[in-house]
Amino acid sequence: MEIIIMENAAEIGEAAGKLFVKAIQKKPDIVLGLATGASPVPTYQYISAACQKGEVSLRDVRTYNLDEYVGLPRNDKNSYYTFMHEQLFNHTDIQEQNVHFLDGNATDVEAECRSYDDQLDKAHIDIQLLGIGRNGHIGFNEPSICFTKGAFKVKLTESTIDANSKYFDENPMPHYALTMGIGSIMKAKKIVMIATGSAKADAMAAMIKGEVTPVCPASILQFHPNVVVYLDKAAAKLL
Ligand code: GLP
Repeated sequence: MEIIIMENAAEIGEAAGKLFVKAIQKKPDIVLGLATGASPVPTYQYISAACQKGEVSLRDVRTYNLDEYVGLPRNDKNSYYTFMHEQLFNHTDIQEQNVHFLDGNATDVEAECRSYDDQLDKAHIDIQLLGIGRNGHIGFNEPSICFTKGAFKVKLTESTIDANSKYFDENPMPHYALTMGIGSIMKAKKIVMIATGSAKADAMAAMIKGEVTPVCPASILQFHPNVVVYLDKAAAKLL
C-alpha cells in the first residue's frame, strides 16, 4: 500500500485528479470504478476542468459506480446517479451509455446484482476510486461477519445513516442500498482511496495498521497489490 499524506483535500484532489487524467490519456477507453461522497469531489473537479480545457477526453471511458440507494427515483437529487452527473459526468464528454449504476429500484434485486457482477467481470476495472466510511465501509460494504463477494442489498448501519442523513433535507434517508461486493472491488487492477478529516482517522488506522477483518471492510485492501491511499494530516493522525 502506498500511503501519501498531504496538507488538505484540495491538494489531494489535484494529485488524484492528475493520476486519473494521466491514466485516461494513456488509455482512452479505460474502465473506472467510481465513488460518491464528499471525498472524491475535488478529484472530480480536477478531471472536469481538464476535460473542459481539452486536456483529456472521456468519450471512450466506461464507468461503474460502487453503489446506489434503494428506493430513490434515479433522478432524485440525492441519488448517486444524480450526484455523479452533477459532480463529474455533466462537465465532461462522457457518453451516457458508458456510465453504469446498480439500479436501486430493481424489482428483482438478485437478478440486478448478478447482472452487475457479470458486467464488472467482463469490463475488468482498471482503476477503482474509493472513499471510506467512518466505520471502515467501502462502497456500502458495512462492517460484517464476512467479506462479500458480489453485489448485494445492504441494510445501512446507524453510523452511515448518521453520517449521510445531513444530505437529506426533505425526505428521510433510505436505510437500504445496493453495493458492489468486496470481491469485485478487489478485482480492480489499481485502487485509489481518498480519506480526509479527523472523522476518518480511526478507520484509516484500522485499515492500514489493524488486522484484516470484515469488521473493518477496508482492511482487505492490505491484500491488494496496487493501492494508493491519499489522506490529509487529520485523517492520518493515528498512523
Ligand atoms: C458513502 C458512500 C461511500 C463513501 C462514504 C464516505 O457511504 N457509499 O462510497 O466512501 O460515503 O463519504 P464521504 O466521502 O462523504 O465521507
